[in-house]
Amino acid sequence: MLSFPLALVATTLFLIHVAVAESFTNPLNRVNGSDPFMVYSKGNYYLTVTGWDHIAITRAKTIEGLKKGERKVVWRDSTPNRCCEVWAPEMHEFDGVWWIYYTAGSKGTFGNQRPHVLKGGATPFDKYTYAAQMSGPQGMQNWGIDATVATIAKKRYFIWSCKPDLQSVCLGEMSSPTRVSSFTRISKPELPFEKKGEFPVNEGPAVMNHGGKTYIAYSASHCASPAYSLGLLTLKNGANPLKPESWIKSPQPVVKSGNGNYGTGHNGFFQGPEGDWWNVYHATKKPGGDCRFDRYTMVSAVKFDAKGDPIFDQPQPSSKQIEGPKGSGP
Ligand SMILES: *[C@@H]1O[C@H](CO)[C@@H](O)[C@H](O)[C@H]1NC(C)=O
Repeated sequence: MLSFPLALVATTLFLIHVAVAESFTNPLNRVNGSDPFMVYSKGNYYLTVTGWDHIAITRAKTIEGLKKGERKVVWRDSTPNRCCEVWAPEMHEFDGVWWIYYTAGSKGTFGNQRPHVLKGGATPFDKYTYAAQMSGPQGMQNWGIDATVATIAKKRYFIWSCKPDLQSVCLGEMSSPTRVSSFTRISKPELPFEKKGEFPVNEGPAVMNHGGKTYIAYSASHCASPAYSLGLLTLKNGANPLKPESWIKSPQPVVKSGNGNYGTGHNGFFQGPEGDWWNVYHATKKPGGDCRFDRYTMVSAVKFDAKGDPIFDQPQPSSKQIEGPKGSGP
């Protein structure tokens, strides 16, 4: 008579344990969680955010674990033209080697920001050395921030925020990890939701390849505005990514302020151990938005509609338990 209730208790405890182990709450940090980027690789989640004067990476076995994960400063640089305003690092693997793409400039100004590249090793946690400032044809030497890299139809592309006039999204074909062979502007702020605040902005592009289609989620409007939000570009099937007319812009933001989280922007995509898609972005408690330290990191699931297009979750209250990626947990 004793074994039945004991088994029930044991089963219940086991189920509770599994449910708790695989869920997490947002945000992953309270302050200094700006411009987050995440990747899952070989049993670990890796998170990096804007460090301002350094680049650090945190790793853990679960998303919840990142709150107190193993943290490593992987980069600091006193070279005057790239010492400071170190923003938006991202870790990407090419042919078994990890690279970090990041933005940096000189002290006391945002006007000298350029995209730079570090070369790492076989895991995202290995040692990094300086590779180069991203180079290429006329215009690549100009102001640029928030770079990402992605493979689209077997070709490698560099996608970043450029400023030919308005702050826009540019995309270039890569001839090496540190060089672009040609590039074009694929999106500029033109719709009402992209032009709120101090000046119109498109920045922080992130790429997702899903179901044979390519999407870019990007930040729209000025960061010191509650309207700072995520917009979406969809590549027409089989179209050349280098042609601006190949990209269809969604008329409304796909993630915007809600539930006490303001200025939802600067996203990254990552896949869990079993391939499900997730989005990571920052938000602030300040109703007017924030451009500096007062931003925290949020993670949310990406689901798909019947046509295969993404459905983004809106920012949830910080008390909400979110079921984590399939296949993760201790
Ligand atoms: C954020 O990080 C920067 C660089 O380490 C530091 O100077 C600043 O005080 C931090 N801000 C907060 C609110 O922790």
